[in-house]
Amino acid sequence: MRKNIVAANWKMNLDRVEGITLVEDILGKISLDSKTEVVLAPSFIHLYKLGKMCDDRRNIFIASQDCSASNKGAFTGEVSAEMIASCAAKYVILGHSERRTNFSETNELLKLKVGQALANNLEVVFCCGESLEQRHSGAHFEWLNSQISDSLFHLLAEDFSKIVIAYEPIWAIGTGVTASSDQAQEAHNFIRDIVRKRYGGNVANDTSILYGGSCNPVNSAELFSQPDIDGGLIGGASLNADDFVAITDSF
Ligand code: 13P
Repeated sequence: MRKNIVAANWKMNLDRVEGITLVEDILGKISLDSKTEVVLAPSFIHLYKLGKMCDDRRNIFIASQDCSASNKGAFTGEVSAEMIASCAAKYVILGHSERRTNFSETNELLKLKVGQALANNLEVVFCCGESLEQRHSGAHFEWLNSQISDSLFHLLAEDFSKIVIAYEPIWAIGTGVTASSDQAQEAHNFIRDIVRKRYGGNVANDTSILYGGSCNPVNSAELFSQPDIDGGLIGGASLNADDFVAITDSF
């Protein structure tokens, strides 16, 4: 079912004590009866502890920032979807542009990771987004289409219902340059449209599509008021409890 979601992507920030302190702070400030689903994606080392800290909060869930494309075995340094699920995580973020760029993750590899996540009952926050060059050359819609269709459109509709899409234009990530609400709405509308063409109107209407890229308490309400923007995937501003909670309150 389509829902409003605000997800914190901590990236490679916050040690054990800092992470716990931030979550205590967020739990103290966040509205208990909010209908918005709040998702915290810390580093793997925090998953279990944060899952325990949040397990009595019906609107707060834990996510990992990645999972292995393999299920188990001799893959030193990897963390499997099964291990992540055993920490009571609900989601895994896949396909973040930092992983695509810095770790050469391809649409094909992400297809395997999506399979691992779903096989272990994890839902997926699937990231897509174009570079500035692609936007300037007008290639961004085709790029978004291939990122989404190559990694996701083999799924049956029932499995696709476990997918949340995050549109994160690379040029807006960590730059302080946010997509305008018109630019973001246009991209979200395009994404919902390709989902509609593949799976039909009901699935498209039920799909949550989040915006990410320099989203903050000043611009979140305007972005989230757009008809096809169902929330945000927040980087820098999620490391500050007041800013993050303000964003969760901006629907
Ligand atoms: P910023 O909010 O820091 O731009 O990061 C966005 C992001 O990459 C979330 O996944």
